[in-house]
Amino acid sequence: MTTLSPTKGPIGEPLDRVDGRLKVTGAARYAAERKPSAPPLHGVIVGATVAKGRVTAIDAAAAEAAPGVRLVMTHRNAPKQPEFGPARIAGNRFQRARPVLGDDRVRHWGEPVAFVVADTFEQARAAADLVKVTYEAEPHAIGLEEHLRDAYAPQTINVGMPTDTEVGDFEAAFAVAPVKVDETYHVAQQHHMAIEPHAAVAEWDGDELTVFTASQTIANARASLAATLGIDKEKVRLVSSYVGGGFGGKLGMRAETALAAFAAKALSRPVKAVQTRRQTFYTVGHRPEAIQRVRLSASRDGRLTGVSHEVWMQSSPVEEFAEQTASSTRALYGAPAILTRHRLVNLDMQGGEPVRAPGEAPGLLALESAIDELCHKLGMDPVEFRILNDTQIDPEKKKPFSSRHLVECLREGAARFGWADRPKSPRERREGAKLIGYGVSAAIRPNYIGPCAAYVRVAEDRSVIVRTDMTDIGTGTYTILTQVAAETLGVPLAAVKVELGDSRFPVSPGSGGSWGAASSASAVHDACLKVKAEMARTDEARVFEATGSVKGMRDTQAYKDFSQYCFGAHFAEVEVDEDTGEIRMRRMLGAFAAGRILNAKTARSQMIGGMIWGVSSALFEEAVNDPRTGHIVNGDLGEYHVAAHADAANVDAFFIDEHDERANALGAKGVGELGICGAGAALANAVFNATGVRARRFPITLDQVI
Ligand code: MOS
Repeated sequence: MTTLSPTKGPIGEPLDRVDGRLKVTGAARYAAERKPSAPPLHGVIVGATVAKGRVTAIDAAAAEAAPGVRLVMTHRNAPKQPEFGPARIAGNRFQRARPVLGDDRVRHWGEPVAFVVADTFEQARAAADLVKVTYEAEPHAIGLEEHLRDAYAPQTINVGMPTDTEVGDFEAAFAVAPVKVDETYHVAQQHHMAIEPHAAVAEWDGDELTVFTASQTIANARASLAATLGIDKEKVRLVSSYVGGGFGGKLGMRAETALAAFAAKALSRPVKAVQTRRQTFYTVGHRPEAIQRVRLSASRDGRLTGVSHEVWMQSSPVEEFAEQTASSTRALYGAPAILTRHRLVNLDMQGGEPVRAPGEAPGLLALESAIDELCHKLGMDPVEFRILNDTQIDPEKKKPFSSRHLVECLREGAARFGWADRPKSPRERREGAKLIGYGVSAAIRPNYIGPCAAYVRVAEDRSVIVRTDMTDIGTGTYTILTQVAAETLGVPLAAVKVELGDSRFPVSPGSGGSWGAASSASAVHDACLKVKAEMARTDEARVFEATGSVKGMRDTQAYKDFSQYCFGAHFAEVEVDEDTGEIRMRRMLGAFAAGRILNAKTARSQMIGGMIWGVSSALFEEAVNDPRTGHIVNGDLGEYHVAAHADAANVDAFFIDEHDERANALGAKGVGELGICGAGAALANAVFNATGVRARRFPITLDQVI
């Protein structure tokens, strides 16, 4: 196995995005900006206005007579589609058929019940308001806390992990422990609001379909669309050259894509469909509301003797999804007894889906708050407590970590942040009406790699083309693959052109699970080595090309022998106004260990973005469903608050020097989702340090601290 030198060449350099100029000048075309061969018609979705029931009548006459309208599609005239099938399937759920307008049932508020296509967007939108839908509503269940008695155990949690685990005997350890915490935390329903909403432009050429859409994972969306249309996936070309954020919401195929394809077929014209911001609150998944009970037990000298993490979260009777909320608890601390449990409560809402660091983000918000509670009871520095309870052996799998530098992150982060100057006890420091507090949290996230292929071609003039169906969702894929190809082939960066996001290119696992960079970079690296080896065998001036690949983690020995995670530590300083309860994050610092960093600038941006989302989840984000209807009462960005610039000043991040040759040939691990893991807890712990108020309901609202 060839290992590149970590110090030579452009890999790791803080290179500006190679697609940056295209993006800021508007030359990078996102899905809705793509131009099919003829001007497209425009489709607008009409969503259901009951939580559960049936459509009993649709009066489309006024809409059909409205100016410019070409088609009003409902379950009555939509093409026949496969049944959605059981809530739980064995295979890849992102590739299953997702029928839309397939029958008269309404499964949640906002589910599409009609699709209006007109010459212009404005005409389609005006006509959509004229469609009269009559429902027969049925009794529905909304509200997690009200329906907890209906909780059940899913077969697995996300990524196929076990639902429940137990190492040692937690109850016995907890019963006899001299110091304990037993608290319950509540994390609100959150929504991934990518700047680019979900969009599709569909065009048929005979029986061949081309769709420009916003997808994180081309192969999944393509298979799902083909299954929904009932056609061979070879007949479908899917293109996502630029994607304006994903966060899990674009892992699969969404309603607008299937609807645009159906309408384009029916009308023999290209059709464009873009979801509105409000529609995406109902149709693209969300982080389910969760209740988490955390119990901790320790000896008086601060050694954890037991950790228990039990979770109850929202799911849907239509499709089962359980975030891996307590999964980080299985590997973070070296306690002899660890118990984790996940339970679901089916509500008549769209099911939960992966949202950046699924489960890990809300799970660490609870666990790392509870650890802080324990440290307070013990009278211990929470940095020292975490160092004391570190482990180099995965406590559940009983295997060593491929690399684990949590202690280094805590120590180096503490030094750079000035942790030694922290207020040692709550309400100790104030500046006028502001109470000042410091908080810390650990970060952990699995390191994954997915099966990936990439094509590399070196022309006679030594210009290089790299192709894979991998996507760049704002993360920097174009840039890091340019760096990897340039360094591996020994050519200038300017000689390399990376092409992504087209189902005609070799298949990647896409952007998800933080596996994108390591997987695609490894495949490009492999292809470049093959090309280089062939070039070394001859002096001919000709074209050289090769397809390279990397195996997925399930087929990789290093994943059998080692437990693979990334680690980090978050430090936060807050001020809380004693009169108004207003909480302001003053500064945050993240220290991370995530293997070899492929681009210091884009990786740091990833971490900072995640940390800011941590601020958001601790202080702002909460979608509220009206129990009478299932309607989200704050379902737009005016009412659903996220951290804005003024909430996110002074956020910095750095990486510990790490090179994990057990992870892959490049030594790189996933960075994307690590940044949000634990970030919110550092803030919540800082709020406690400032005020003495322990918030266990997130987001922390002003009334909780006043
Ligand atoms: Mo991520 S939630 O796997 O896009």
